[in-house]
Amino acid sequence: MYKIAVIPGDGTGLEMVTEGLKVLEAAQAKFNFKLDKTDYDLGGERYMRTGEILPESVLNELKRYDAIFLGAIGHPDVKPGILEKGLLLKMRFELDLYINLRPVKLYPGVDTPIKGKGPEDIDFVVVRENTEGLYAGAGGFLRKGTPQEVAVQESLNTRFGVERCLRYAFEYCRDRRERKKLTLCGKTNVLTYAFDLWERAFHEIGPEYPDVERDYAHVDAISMWMVKNPEWFDVIVTDNLFGDIITDLGAMIQGGMGIAAGGNIHPGRVSMFEPIGGSAPKYTGKGVINPLASISAGAMMLEHLGEKEAAAAIEKAVVEVCSKKLKSLGAGQMGYSTAEVGDLVADIL
Ligand code: IPM
Ligand code: MN
Repeated sequence: MYKIAVIPGDGTGLEMVTEGLKVLEAAQAKFNFKLDKTDYDLGGERYMRTGEILPESVLNELKRYDAIFLGAIGHPDVKPGILEKGLLLKMRFELDLYINLRPVKLYPGVDTPIKGKGPEDIDFVVVRENTEGLYAGAGGFLRKGTPQEVAVQESLNTRFGVERCLRYAFEYCRDRRERKKLTLCGKTNVLTYAFDLWERAFHEIGPEYPDVERDYAHVDAISMWMVKNPEWFDVIVTDNLFGDIITDLGAMIQGGMGIAAGGNIHPGRVSMFEPIGGSAPKYTGKGVINPLASISAGAMMLEHLGEKEAAAAIEKAVVEVCSKKLKSLGAGQMGYSTAEVGDLVADIL
């Protein structure tokens, strides 16, 4: 029995988690585990109604769950930054979810915009640091609103934070498959403090993982190679902002936001699983959004909880639906409604 906090959040979040939970329910019947779910109405609507974003009491309650299943955060009527910082980033920081794990995997039958590449070429994982860097919120204004205005935004990188992220990546890489290559994605030619620390730590602890080949590439070059030679990558480890950016690119080469899922992880503690796309206000309530990203986030959650067989079965069902059923992964182009796609996966299970 696992205690799961469900946060549908904003926009299409509710439709997404509904289908994700439908599939998790089908899995629990078959694989002999149980999810004890509690809903939390956090997000833009609650904020506009009550002014509350993430009350301390709720945050403390969340710490007592085995996992959090999240839909999407971001509301068109709320100024950008308020919900993102007050809810999504706050959960990542306060729950110390220091890894953002984002697989980039092209399933058979799914179209990629990259000509000449197939599932054997696009199969890697990005390990994004999730609690530091430019996301730490360090900085401020001086003389705001005047012609002499200064805006400072600093990237915080602690040896502790960098090292635990690198160690996670080395270990993840070691367990993943035969080919074991860990690529550090940085910008050592310009960000000569932050990525100096990253690079030193990378090579200092690297020898403790002798079976993992170490590789380095600048973030701009990685953006090029993810398109030109995605087959070069196995596991990529990087800081918070670079990880944010390259995983949107990653989502596109694996077939789009409709399929891309991620985990906000603190090993051994409550962790949070989500589709990586946003709340997509223009599709909200129409039943056209692709729920496979939420369904895959559910599989990642089960993997984290130790239900590996169930996780693998969901992934297999998703592959089957992608390759045999859906016309496309794009919203409104699937040939099925959101709920029907959830049914297809649940039926296969
Ligand atoms: C993501 C999102 C968030 C981020 C936003 C919504 C704050 O883009 O999860 O990648 O930048 O981390
Ligand atoms: Mn992002």
